[in-house]
Amino acid sequence: MMLPPGSTIGIIGGGQLGRMSAMAAARLGYRTHVFAPEFKSPAADVAAGATVGDYGNLALVELFARAVNVVTFEFENLPAESLELLETLKPVRPGAGILRISQDRVLEKRFLNDAGIATAPWAKVENEEDLAAAVARLGLPAVLKTTRLGYDGKGQAMLRTPEDLAAAFARLEPKPLVLEGFVNFAAEISVMVARGVDGTVVAFDAVENRHKHHILDMTLAPAPMPVTVLEEAQRLARTVAEKLELVGLLGVEMFVTADGAVLVNEIAPRPHNSGHWTMDACPCSQFEMHIRAVAGLPLPPAMRHSDAVMKNLVGPEDMALWPRILATPGLIPHHYGKVEARPGRKMGHFNRLFPKGGLPGELGIEDALALAEI
Ligand SMILES: Nc1ncnc2c1ncn2[C@@H]1O[C@H](COP(=O)(O)OP(=O)(O)O)[C@@H](O)[C@H]1O
Ligand SMILES: [Mg+2]
Repeated sequence: MMLPPGSTIGIIGGGQLGRMSAMAAARLGYRTHVFAPEFKSPAADVAAGATVGDYGNLALVELFARAVNVVTFEFENLPAESLELLETLKPVRPGAGILRISQDRVLEKRFLNDAGIATAPWAKVENEEDLAAAVARLGLPAVLKTTRLGYDGKGQAMLRTPEDLAAAFARLEPKPLVLEGFVNFAAEISVMVARGVDGTVVAFDAVENRHKHHILDMTLAPAPMPVTVLEEAQRLARTVAEKLELVGLLGVEMFVTADGAVLVNEIAPRPHNSGHWTMDACPCSQFEMHIRAVAGLPLPPAMRHSDAVMKNLVGPEDMALWPRILATPGLIPHHYGKVEARPGRKMGHFNRLFPKGGLPGELGIEDALALAEI
């Protein structure tokens, strides 16, 4: 049941989530083998082995599976046939059924609503008639999204007036689409939850996420809001993990409305950008928790010893600050080893810790992120 040290954990996807998972795996004595299309990738750079090629290449998928003891993901949009093949060859954690749900916003919302979890009101949209009917029911503004392959706000369009419908419908691919009622949220929060092979469920504290241009900019841990809201968020995340019979780690993104209701936006069955604060503010980070769950190790409590602010470093503008970040006392830097800083690309992040209960208020956050002049 417990994967012995020296075993190899296969990671699908070559990005920073895979890199930080591989580093956590190494600390627990495991080797990692990364499957990614790029010859060099943030994850492959720190792994013992790599399979390089297309995720849909079944011969490569088989070679990869033969090289590892267990398979996990940092990228969840694996083609269905590759996933089916993998399942027949090695344990896949989280399981393929969970991936299928999280790959598809319709299945995801159906699962959540069936589990008694509230989401934004939504409707499946296959054609323009469906869209007109959905808008008539849900009203405007509303958000039209692809059911598959969306990330960082890509694959969605805000509909404000009836004139927006046709162009948004034409632009968004692949179909089908989902229309969501616009949630006028007070805040966006998330919870990282893990479930072990033995069924133990642990949930990290709920955190607040602030975005810039649809990309996560900053996480505040814990989320500065009433404890009843934070507990409800954790309860929802645990429910998701239990109903899915998760083995692994999963992020649950949520909206908090002005009256304190918590709606689930989406789930991601892998480490998540909004969990990066755990790397420095928790004895067991989201990445260690991920590896522990996947390897069948016991899960420790998702304890937080400090409050934290996580700041994402995106694109060339933020990376120009790297020398100043390194020169600023108290910042804990994480670089993803990407050579090229394209606009909008996540290049790294830093964490700043505060004593528990000492997270700065709204006015203090900017000061907390101030960089040294050099
Ligand atoms: N129904 C909605 N109402 C209001 N804002 C939304 C809604 N859906 C998405 N958003 C905003 O867009 C962001 C990205 O949407 P999300 O569904 O999480 O897609 P992605 O897969 O790109 O992360 C959310 O974090 C939120 O800020
Ligand atoms: Mg999201």
